[in-house]
Amino acid sequence: MSYETILTERDEHVFIITLNRPDKLNAINATLRDEIVDALSSVRNDPEIRAIIIIGGPKAFAAGADISGFVEATNVDMFRTFGAGNMWDYTANMPQPTIAAISGFALGGGCELAMSCDFRIAAENAKFGQPEINIGVIPGAGGTQRLTRLVGMTKAKELVLLGEQIDAQEAYRIGLVNKIVPVDQLREEAITWAKKLSSKPPIGVMLAKAAINQGADMPIDTAILIERLAFANLFATEDQKEGAKAFVEKRKPDYKGK
Ligand code: COA
Repeated sequence: MSYETILTERDEHVFIITLNRPDKLNAINATLRDEIVDALSSVRNDPEIRAIIIIGGPKAFAAGADISGFVEATNVDMFRTFGAGNMWDYTANMPQPTIAAISGFALGGGCELAMSCDFRIAAENAKFGQPEINIGVIPGAGGTQRLTRLVGMTKAKELVLLGEQIDAQEAYRIGLVNKIVPVDQLREEAITWAKKLSSKPPIGVMLAKAAINQGADMPIDTAILIERLAFANLFATEDQKEGAKAFVEKRKPDYKGK
């Protein structure tokens, strides 16, 4: 499938989406939003795809929502654009693990897209921020909530209310990113992580992600019950038997996603 604002490719069990509006620093317009959802929906039920990378760069992962549409936009337009099932929520709810590989600016909706992924690998030149307050609004694609859950209220308020940028080191220090690598190693590092994730039992990975994501917003007893149900259900999979057998037979497991 060929798109206008993104590139897609497969590398074994890994699906890679490259944001491709470099002239506009990958600013997220309606086409880019629709194309990401379309690309993700094409693999969400594909058993061959076990991990997903979203990468941009080198100057920007994404410099936020496309502000050119903001001048004339109405509240109703914005409620629709950022409504339930939007590109950010769609990304966050993918069954497969997702990795944002961030080089350069990840601002506003770009930072929110990175935060919709399960892992964030930053290049040394990465800059993060929620600068919406500087143009008279606030984050509208999960920024106030996902950022707070990732780094806590103190730092989230600093980023959202002051609208300033932080560099990769600070993002790592506050727990916003998993790892920092040199710019020229970003893609390779993301692929290494994705391939490592692909070697794990896919149903187990999917249920672990769901238990962590859904459980985080629930009373602990309900969350633990979800974990236990997911854990017990894995005993109905072939991969669970393979994992235990491989351990006993002292060999590497070969997981099939069944
Ligand atoms: N929406 C629309 N266009 C954007 C954009 C955005 N969020 N971010 C960058 N662009 C465009 C610029 O308008 C410019 O287009 P042009 O060459 O046609 O004029 C191009 O991308 C390059 O950006 P520029 O501002 O010239 O690069 P820079 O290196 O001087 O500055 C930033 C980089 C990221 C600091 C600056 O572009 C910026 O502040 N962007 C907006 C960030 C933001 O507020 N995001 C949250 C939106 S809610």
